[in-house]
Amino acid sequence: MVKKPVQNTGAKVWFVGAGPGDPELITVKGHRLVQEADVLIYAGSLVNPVLVAESGAAKKLDSWGMHLDEMVDTMVQHAAAGEKVVRLHSGDPSLYGAIVEQIEKLEERGIEVEVVPGVSSLFAAAAALKTQLTLRGVSESVIVTRPAGKTLKEDQIAEFSRLNSTMVVFLGTEKLGEITAKLACPPDTPAAVVYHASWPDQKIVRGTVSDIATKAKDAGIEHTALLLVGGVVGDVKKGHVKSYLYS
Ligand SMILES: C[S@@+](CC[C@H](N)C(=O)[O-])C[C@H]1O[C@@H](n2cnc3c(N)ncnc32)[C@H](O)[C@@H]1O
Repeated sequence: MVKKPVQNTGAKVWFVGAGPGDPELITVKGHRLVQEADVLIYAGSLVNPVLVAESGAAKKLDSWGMHLDEMVDTMVQHAAAGEKVVRLHSGDPSLYGAIVEQIEKLEERGIEVEVVPGVSSLFAAAAALKTQLTLRGVSESVIVTRPAGKTLKEDQIAEFSRLNSTMVVFLGTEKLGEITAKLACPPDTPAAVVYHASWPDQKIVRGTVSDIATKAKDAGIEHTALLLVGGVVGDVKKGHVKSYLYS
């Protein structure tokens, strides 16, 4: 849990969701903060340089390769000097964004924090596929997850795939074969991989659980993609019942 500030110094840091890539997919508030920033710390390759450039005169720092303490020290130093410090995270900061560890350290040092949400790549991928993640008669739930790797010992991909829900897998582009091998849903379950959703070089690959990893590899997709699994990403959305909304 996020701890209460020890003693508020009056200094503040803003964590802002930059959106999935298209620089127009940031909130109005996030955009204003980027423009007003004196110091902008952004998450390297995942944030569009066009958006970073919009911060004009701000001192710009790429967080890639920066250690947590170094980053926090930088934020504290500038915020305490009365400068507006904006920390840009890709997509929405609440998904695989590692903001809590930064917030805890800032609050321990008396710095106030505000989080401004963003458009996650999850939503940009759904938009690219022109589908809904929840669709009456097809799926009422969405599971957001990631595969095991350097920073996660075990994943729950097999268990989740038995729940007949839409599944969205982050951080797994380079191991799509391993991920799909774990899926316990029928092999003809629709699946899609969306690379660089909302960027000009966005790529969409559609298939099934049995062939999506090969198709994505053949399309040259090796990083920054999402795997979506479930009836909602199929061409024919089997079982879809029209919503009551417009009846
Ligand atoms: C550290 S996570 C950050 C996720 C981010 N907070 C979000 O809400 O989109 C990075 C992973 O998100 C996914 N990702 C980020 N931007 C993406 C995009 N534009 N298109 C597809 N996947 C993306 C990829 O799986 C990537 O490995």
